[in-house]
Amino acid sequence: MLGSILVVNDRGGVGKTLLSHHVMATAMMEGMALRVVEYEVNERLARLYGPEHVEHRKITQDFVNMMGAGGDGFFEFWDKIGPELQRGGRLFDFGGNISQWFFNWAEVSGFDYYVGDGSRLIFMVPVTVDLASLQTGMATLERIATIAPNAKRIIVENGFSGSFTQLEESHYAQRKAEMIERENVAVVTMPACTAPAWARLTGHRIDQVAQMTREDLVRLGVSPPVASRSLIVIHEWLRTIRQQLLPYLVDVFRSTPTPGATGRGGPHQGIV
Ligand SMILES: Nc1ncnc2c1ncn2[C@@H]1O[C@H](COP(=O)(O)OP(=O)(O)OP(=O)(O)O)[C@@H](O)[C@H]1O
Ligand SMILES: [Mg+2]
Repeated sequence: MLGSILVVNDRGGVGKTLLSHHVMATAMMEGMALRVVEYEVNERLARLYGPEHVEHRKITQDFVNMMGAGGDGFFEFWDKIGPELQRGGRLFDFGGNISQWFFNWAEVSGFDYYVGDGSRLIFMVPVTVDLASLQTGMATLERIATIAPNAKRIIVENGFSGSFTQLEESHYAQRKAEMIERENVAVVTMPACTAPAWARLTGHRIDQVAQMTREDLVRLGVSPPVASRSLIVIHEWLRTIRQQLLPYLVDVFRSTPTPGATGRGGPHQGIV
């Protein structure tokens, strides 16, 4: 049975879509078939990868009003996600403020009917050093445990707004240590990409960026020396993130082995 990945933190701009993009590119480069669902105001990943890979569920003011009203429309909308999670093979990128509604729905809608104890689910929670993102992130981690006690929970420390070393003595660091030790929560780091040319590449597919040469960057208007230096940084950045994400992808997108199978065909069996 395939699992699903849910990328959640209601704080806006913490790197949910960038992380989803890394997961997607990593999966594609490994030959895994992964469908992405993005809840966003504007198409982000759908624009880059097209509707055959990414479904865009548009967040409009009407949609927000419907969610806030909490009536039949709210339940009809979220009831559809149960069978999708049961089927698996998907990544859900919940845009800012969306996941609270998902949790409100799951808490009263018999979530376990579709996903059992959640052991085929991975929740990735990006946080930055910004206090609000840490608060919503930690509250989200607690909330996940109530709807899916055996789901894998991963804190993704995004270094984009500053280094996490400054938080060593903080309440966040204490709670994180407890979660790692007692609750099997994992931590992944997503460093800031410091390459000068990265700004020109944010509208490109990461799986393609990973193959780019200096000449490709020069064609995009980057000078040759800046292109050379940028590629070193970008390739290292991509490799670091890919290496951390891959074991979880293999885990969640691997079919349950048939009894007696020796694992022939490797960990990607059934999804290539
Ligand atoms: N580690 C990073 N390195 C470089 N750029 C980053 C990093 N993290 C985030 N960014 C940039 O910051 C901006 C916000 O990130 P992103 O769109 O992924 O956040 P989000 O959590 O999906 O936001 P929303 O809640 O609005 O959906 C993007 O332009 C993204 O490329
Ligand atoms: Mg987003």
